[in-house]
Amino acid sequence: MTGNRTFTMIKPDAVENGHIGAILEKITSAGFKIVAMKYTQLSLRDAQEFYAIHRERPFFGELVSFMTRGPIVSAILEKDNAVEDFRALIGATNPEEAAEGTIRKLFAKDIGENAVHGSDSDENALIEGSFHFSGREIY
Ligand code: RTP
Ligand code: MG
Repeated sequence: MTGNRTFTMIKPDAVENGHIGAILEKITSAGFKIVAMKYTQLSLRDAQEFYAIHRERPFFGELVSFMTRGPIVSAILEKDNAVEDFRALIGATNPEEAAEGTIRKLFAKDIGENAVHGSDSDENALIEGSFHFSGREIY
């Protein structure tokens, strides 16, 4: 069913800084149910494909090298209005502009290393979730 699922990654910076547990706590306390989750590392090819939409942007090389430099946690989350509510929970792309109490405000360093990913539409949530998980890994 569309509309009640989103896809997230806890990015390498947040993993390196030991924030996995605190971020998952914020996510589950906000009412999201984890329906798929794994600890993994993106290959160069994975990251280039996942972020293909940003291929022409000046920060693409930096983004790909950041996202591949260490392990991440990827997950599919379920809740009513999942995409919008999760974007609200993580806050603005640039942590300096993120609202107080949001995950990026609490845990992100800057616009490049911003701790978490959240899908921006139901359509992309489905594409991104399927990129990371097979049907057998979603519960
Ligand atoms: P995300 O996809 O990771 O949830 O982030 P977002 O929607 O808030 O932002 P988006 O525009 O999709 O950008 C994707 C990721 O690229 C990096 N970025 N760096 N240096 C820069 O100016 C810059 N701008 C974007 C960030 O890691 C951002 O999350
Ligand atoms: Mg995005």
